Amino acid sequence: MTTVWKRKDLVGLKDLSANEIKLILDTAKSLQEISLRPVKKVPTLRGRTVANLFFEPSTRTRISFELAEKRLSADTINFTGSTSSTVKGETLKDTVRNIESLKVEIIVMRHPASGAPHRLAEALPVSVVNAGDGINEHPTQALLDMFTIQEKKGNLSGIKVAFIGDILHSRVARSNIWGLTKMGAKVVVCAPKTLLPPQVEALGVSATTDLDQAIKDADVINLLRIQTERQSECYFPSIREYANSYQINREVLKHAKPDVLIMHPGPVNRGIELSSEVMDGPYSVILDQVTNGLAVRMAVLYLLSGARKKVVEK
Ligand code: CP
Repeated sequence: MTTVWKRKDLVGLKDLSANEIKLILDTAKSLQEISLRPVKKVPTLRGRTVANLFFEPSTRTRISFELAEKRLSADTINFTGSTSSTVKGETLKDTVRNIESLKVEIIVMRHPASGAPHRLAEALPVSVVNAGDGINEHPTQALLDMFTIQEKKGNLSGIKVAFIGDILHSRVARSNIWGLTKMGAKVVVCAPKTLLPPQVEALGVSATTDLDQAIKDADVINLLRIQTERQSECYFPSIREYANSYQINREVLKHAKPDVLIMHPGPVNRGIELSSEVMDGPYSVILDQVTNGLAVRMAVLYLLSGARKKVVEK
């Protein structure tokens, strides 16, 4: 079945169909070779303007979106919350309406409030891409994770992916759960009981507090950062105790499949979620994830821009 992209926004994977996810991954595959050319630029978004609004720190996502926009020849505006008039009390909606009045067509936004991109997308005609909202979703991270798994393992259907770490506060885990289960993968989440969301199994995953059980038969181990900045209370006695029970290191990997992939969305707490030898070792595809993020974000911008063009032409 051929799917045509019709959405104005990409705010999450919860509402996307498997065909729409496949369309983004296939588009990313076809755009991947642009970054291997001597001149790494195509005119696809020439004359279009994209604003990157980051109200939370970011390294990978912000740089990756900005580079994707440049590769596609878009004009870009970069905006960080801490240096803007939002600190003087301007509302998010008013800030975005001002940016929109400069004829910006796409807004890429990271915000600490869950649902902020969804509210803007509903209220304003500009296209909105969610670059991470609170503890809700981080759709392009999940898409690049799926792209990497597909690239390394050949497919997503039937693949077992174990998420280890702070599932409760993880927008990466949520988007991956929506995406992977739609694509036919098996997902297991593993953490201390306090870091597992209540009734997480209702999302179509299995849950355990036992690391060995989670990684047994896993094709992929995706590690999630311990997010001290989002934890208002103590979820485990100490970081050392967490690492003793949940760190992926050479010893723990003896219980995993010999061709297991080690993934992490970053930023990594080196020596906590995983040991340095595993992070820099042969199973790790953490830097491949970063590389693939560029093609995935180019695909998202390309598809959204095409959908906008059709709406304007009608
Ligand atoms: N994975 C991710 O979102 O990283 P950044 O916070 O550096 O963007």
